[in-house]
Amino acid sequence: MYAWLRNGLFALPPETAHDVALNALRIGRAVGLPRLVAGCPVDAPVDLLGLRFPNPVGLAAGLDKNGDYIDALGQLGFGFIEVGTVTPKPQPGNPKPRMFRLTDHEALINRLGFNNKGVDHLVERLRARRFRGPVGANIGKQKDTPVDEAAGDYRFCLERVYPHCDYVTINISSPNTANLRALQDTGPLRELLDELTAARDALDAEHGSSRPILVKIAPDWAADALVPSLEVIAGSTVDGLIATNTTLSRDAVAGDRHADEAGGLSGAPLLEPANRVLETARDVLGGDRPIIGLGGITRGAHAAAKRAAGADLVQVYTGFIYRGPALIRECIDAWTQASTGA
Ligand code: FNR
Repeated sequence: MYAWLRNGLFALPPETAHDVALNALRIGRAVGLPRLVAGCPVDAPVDLLGLRFPNPVGLAAGLDKNGDYIDALGQLGFGFIEVGTVTPKPQPGNPKPRMFRLTDHEALINRLGFNNKGVDHLVERLRARRFRGPVGANIGKQKDTPVDEAAGDYRFCLERVYPHCDYVTINISSPNTANLRALQDTGPLRELLDELTAARDALDAEHGSSRPILVKIAPDWAADALVPSLEVIAGSTVDGLIATNTTLSRDAVAGDRHADEAGGLSGAPLLEPANRVLETARDVLGGDRPIIGLGGITRGAHAAAKRAAGADLVQVYTGFIYRGPALIRECIDAWTQASTGA
């Protein structure tokens, strides 16, 4: 069924297809269409971060940037959904075209640049949701905010989303906002995490609750840079890590007609580099800091491989565009088999 739908969607420019598919899902939700496409939800609960995840396969940030489609996407069988990235105020992102399909490689390149309706819109959508699984809010900085003032943007968003989501992701790894990745360097990273974990502690005390915060990192690191940054994360009280965002590397897609487009590459070619970062992160963080494995999952076996590399949960994005909801079930099955040794 999805293969048939995909043919139609892939005849459209990628960003148009994205909007058409999401709007169709939202309209179809009233009659349970997403559930019809996806089948019954699979029960494979994971308890982590003080939350119960109905299954270990989540939707990664960037597909539903504004939280406009949470309930429709929830009906597709995801165990959790991450919305965003949002910034304090709305911003348009980069000029179009800014999203490209590398179909032979089951990959995408995007340079959207945090196009979003702003954190206040997201808060409204979070408040109105019916989806019962965990929903994470992924937050970033405004394009025009200098990197050395970025903490203020993150803090502003954290304070807004805190009462309305289940976890918060600090996105310091998008390649499409100039200098954002400089926040991954040890000095700025330590400062940012100190400020945001203090803000989280204050919000926890104020609300009498707890809201885990996770840091989302890139797959692209100079040889000697990854471990020191992971050590900063390990030394902080951040609750977990998401590895990884999109890559700037084009090694695996050389020769593709879109290979030279600027932006982040996602999908199949990202699997191996993202897994290497995940393994290193698991080594440095030790066994008890949750890690969400992300990047390049296009088959169930890839989710099991992330589990073997140290992931506690996984997320998908590009693979979901290419494979549809069948990928979710495939990943849950492979994950469960790997967990039970079946
Ligand atoms: C993304 N991704 C992303 N990540 C993020 O933290 N905030 C965002 O706003 C976006 N936006 C976004 C748009 C598009 C079109 C794509 C393809 C990706 C990155 C995404 O969450 C994920 O980290 C990567 O895509 C790698 O996973 P996959 O796609 O290989 O499963």
